[in-house]
Amino acid sequence: MANSADLTVDGKTYSFPTLEGTENEKAFDISNLRDQTGYVTLDRGYKNTGATKSAITFLDGEKGILQYRGYSIEDLAAKASFLGVAYLLIYGELPTQTQYDKFESDIRHHTMVNEDMRKIFDGFPVDAHPMGVLSSLVSAMSAFYPDVNDEDNTDLHIIRLLAKLPTIATWSYKRSKGHPMNYPQNKLDYIQNFLNMMFALPVEDYTVDPVVVEALNVLLILHADHEQNCSTSTVRLVGSSQANIYSSISAGVSALWGPLHGGANQEVIEMLENIKADGGDVSKYVEMAKNAKSTGFRLYGFGHRVYKNFDPRAKIIKKAADDVLSKLGVNDPILDIAKGLEEAALNDDYFVSRKLYPNVDFYSGIIYRALGIPTNMFTVMFAIGRLPGWIAQWKEMRENKEPIGRPRQIYTGPTHREFVPVEKR
Ligand code: SDX
Repeated sequence: MANSADLTVDGKTYSFPTLEGTENEKAFDISNLRDQTGYVTLDRGYKNTGATKSAITFLDGEKGILQYRGYSIEDLAAKASFLGVAYLLIYGELPTQTQYDKFESDIRHHTMVNEDMRKIFDGFPVDAHPMGVLSSLVSAMSAFYPDVNDEDNTDLHIIRLLAKLPTIATWSYKRSKGHPMNYPQNKLDYIQNFLNMMFALPVEDYTVDPVVVEALNVLLILHADHEQNCSTSTVRLVGSSQANIYSSISAGVSALWGPLHGGANQEVIEMLENIKADGGDVSKYVEMAKNAKSTGFRLYGFGHRVYKNFDPRAKIIKKAADDVLSKLGVNDPILDIAKGLEEAALNDDYFVSRKLYPNVDFYSGIIYRALGIPTNMFTVMFAIGRLPGWIAQWKEMRENKEPIGRPRQIYTGPTHREFVPVEKR
């Protein structure tokens, strides 16, 4: 039986249809609210507002569940490859071996970047933040591939984005170090190639450590998609104007950079280093976070708009952090501080009552550090992981012919007034 919800306002009752998703999420369909009632809704930060229907990723914030196309994040992190998960997110099914081999080979053979794009790097200060460089270079791709607006070529542009993002990312790092940029090597797989471009130097041999490859495979899978988060909503909104995929993804990179979103992984490490430098007294910082209004201090890596239980990704990363550091023989005091901070916060009513648990960004930086990745590249790693999700969501939005996104507002400014000539102001 079709359900409906009644709303009574100004003495009149209106009925709106309700709908339910495959995982029993429920919604009021208010597509005709303003036409029927003259009212719009107001929902700052869209805490209660669904922007779309989507078949890609499901989160249950209360139960701490995350699934990509119905497969649990725990299963995918343990059993899949990052490119296999990218294929699943973008095309809806786990690839057969033939499908995977073609997808992987296409990506492997598109990793080179136009030599004229290299010249753009020379225009940036050497200490430019790599997220700013990444966003700019991804946007510039629409200039180098003007056929991007031809919808028949979308699969090729998807391959180009997946293939070239790691190359662009590593080039911004190598330039910031004053090291020669490394070209991709077709004999290497996706993650080996990234590591080789990041760390190989012309003066010595570089051997990719399989422990590092496996850790990065898990981290990239964990970051691959997360339904309608800030950066993904940005990609969908920009793409809804029929802007091309490179411009849409570039906007997503910029949104992810914010310290409340993907930039939090860099903030977490800087916060933990400050706590260590300040003597390691985690309870002092828990108190500062509880008095945020006066201290202005926030515990980065804690809290989440959707998860009101443990972020399942944080659980996996926390375990991986122990494994990776012990396999690499790394003893990082920051990890102990992070665990102490987590325990102090999770035993404090301020955090428990607000359901503030560690999120995906809390432990990821500790592993990136152990892998030798510099702090200002952490959010770039998040972007490389999230790219398949952004692509999948952009593709779904276009295939579903979603309308251009254009929210309403409640105006609170001055009512009409006559123009005042300058001599009378
Ligand atoms: C990501 O959306 C996604 O899916 C994002 C993401 C993804 O995969 O795409 O999961 C990735 O962005 C993870 C989040 C990374 N950000 C951080 O770690 C930054 C620190 N956390 C926050 O600033 C905050 O928790 C947000 C932004 C993540 C969520 O903010 P909300 O949902 O708007 O919650 P809120 O700011 O309204 O907080 C509710 C209360 C407030 O206190 P009161 O006003 O009720 O007294 O909790 C407090 C906040 O002050 N609070 C915190 C806190 N986070 C929230 N207090 C101390 N430390 C924190 N980290």
